[in-house]
Amino acid sequence: MKLPITAILVGAGRRGSQVYGKYALKNKKKLKFIAVAEPIKTRREKFAKLHRIPLSRCYKSWEDLLSEDKFADVAYICTQDQKHAEPTLLALEKGYDVLLEKPMAHTLNDCIRIVKKVEEMGGILGVSHVLRYTGFFSTIQKLIEMGLLGEIINITHRENVMWYHYAHSFVRGPWANVDKSSPMILAKCCHDFDLLFQMVGSLPKKISSFGNLLHFKPENAPKGAPEYCLDGCPARDKCLYYAPRIYIDIIPQIQFMEKSNNKVLKVLAKLRKNYVNFLTYISKIIPQFKELRYYKDFPIYYLYTGQKEDYSDEAKARILKTSSYGKCVYHCDNDVVDHQIVNIEFENGVTANLTMHGFSELEGRTLRIDGTRATLIGKFHISGERIILYDHFTGKEKLVYKKKLTRESGEHGVGDFELIDAFIESLINKNKIQPLTNARDLLESHLMAFAANESRLKGTIIDMEEFRNNAYKLE
Ligand SMILES: NC(=O)c1ccc[n+]([C@@H]2O[C@H](COP(=O)([O-])OP(=O)(O)OC[C@H]3O[C@@H](n4cnc5c(N)ncnc54)[C@H](O)[C@@H]3O)[C@@H](O)[C@H]2O)c1
Repeated sequence: MKLPITAILVGAGRRGSQVYGKYALKNKKKLKFIAVAEPIKTRREKFAKLHRIPLSRCYKSWEDLLSEDKFADVAYICTQDQKHAEPTLLALEKGYDVLLEKPMAHTLNDCIRIVKKVEEMGGILGVSHVLRYTGFFSTIQKLIEMGLLGEIINITHRENVMWYHYAHSFVRGPWANVDKSSPMILAKCCHDFDLLFQMVGSLPKKISSFGNLLHFKPENAPKGAPEYCLDGCPARDKCLYYAPRIYIDIIPQIQFMEKSNNKVLKVLAKLRKNYVNFLTYISKIIPQFKELRYYKDFPIYYLYTGQKEDYSDEAKARILKTSSYGKCVYHCDNDVVDHQIVNIEFENGVTANLTMHGFSELEGRTLRIDGTRATLIGKFHISGERIILYDHFTGKEKLVYKKKLTRESGEHGVGDFELIDAFIESLINKNKIQPLTNARDLLESHLMAFAANESRLKGTIIDMEEFRNNAYKLE
C-alpha cells in the first residue's frame, strides 16, 4: 500500500471529523479521505468541503457508501457504539482494511462476528485503543519490559470519570442506556482492560465484579424538580447538575482553570465567571476572547446535532429546553451503572483490580503497580501526568515521567495521532505484527468487559477460558 493511504469515513461526528479528519488535514502525505457517509447534512458538507471530497462521493449513510465496490484502501468506522458492527462487517467483506472506533461492538456476539470476518478476509483491523499510544502508558510499558519493576504482582487501576462528564455522557448522553448503547464497563473501560492485558502480558483467568446505579435515580431528585432544568427547577441554585450551570455558565471549565497553576488561566477563569458582560464586549473587539466567551469544546459541542452552531447563551438555552442535555439528571432514561469494581486474576498469577466511577473531582486514570523490585505510582489526569518509581533496593524514588497540562490533554493525552500513525505503519508494512492489529488480542479487553458485566449481573465468578471458548462458539 502506498502513501497517502486513501480512506472512506463512516460517521463524521466528533471522532470522525475532529480526530481522524484533523489528522488527515495535518498529514496530507499520509492519509486522504476520498468519501464520507454521514446523515447529518451540515456535518457531511463540512467534512466534504474540508477534505475536497466531490459530491458524488458524499453519502447519507454507510449503507449507500458500502453498496459501492471498494474504491479506497481503508474504512474508518466512527459511528456510535450500536452502529459499529454492520458497517465494519460489510467493509471487511468488501476488502477494506478497517480502523474501528472502540468498543468493537456493543454485544459480544457482534465482536466475535467481526473477529471471525477479519480472519476470513485476511484484512487488517485496528480498534481505537488510543491509551496504549500515549506517552504516559507507553512509558509504563517500557519500564515493565525493561524489568525495572521486577515481576509484577498486583495492579490497582482507577478510571475516575469527572462528575459532570459522567452526567453528560452516561446520564443525559449517548451512553446512558444499555439498550441504546453499551454497558458502561465496556464503553468506558475497554481501554483500561486493554492496558491491563498489555501490562500483565497474560490472559485473564478469573473475573468478578460488583456495581450498580446508586445516585442518578428519581428518588434522589430535589423536591419539585421538573423534567427539564429550565422549566423552573426550584433547586436551580443548589443543584450541581443544573444544565445551564454546565452548558451556559461552563462552571466545570472555570473550576478547572481556577485549579490550574497557570496564572493566565486563573485570570481568564475570573473574567469568565465574574465579568461575563465585559468579556462579551471585549470579545467583539479582540476575537481571541471569543473562544473563552463562546466556549465550544467538550461537552458543549454535543448540544448541536445538525442545527446552526450558534453558541450564544440564548441559543443554548433554547436547545436545553428540549435536548436530553437539558434534562434533570434524576429524570433521564439512564440505567447504566455509576460505579463498578472488577477483580481479575490472570493466568500468570498476577491480580488486578479496576475501579470505575462517575464522581471524581478530576478526570483521569490513576494506577499503582507493585512488583518484586519496585512500586510504580502513576497519575494520568487532564491537568497533568506523572509517573514515580519507588525502588525497593535503594529505597529511593524517581520521577520518571512528567507532562504538564496541554490543550490536547483532554483528548487522551494525544494518543489519538500516535494510534493513527501506528495503524498506517501496519498497513504499509503488512507483515509487521502490531499489537493493535491482532484481532484476537483486541478482543481480549472486550471479553473482560463483557465478563465483568455478566459477573455483576449474575453475582458469579467468571472462568475466562470457558467464557472465551463459549464466545468463539457464538454466531
Ligand atoms: N477511542 C476513543 O477513545 C473514543 C473516545 C470517544 C468516543 N469514542 C467512540 O467513537 C464513536 C463515535 O463517537 P462520537 O463522539 O464521535 O459520536 P458522534 O455521535 O459525534 O458521531 C457519530 C456520527 O455517526 C453518524 N451516523 C449515524 N448513523 C449513520 C449512518 N447510518 N451512516 C453514517 N454515519 C452515521 C452520526 O450522525 C454522527 O455524526 C463511539 O462509538 C464512541 O464510543 C472513542
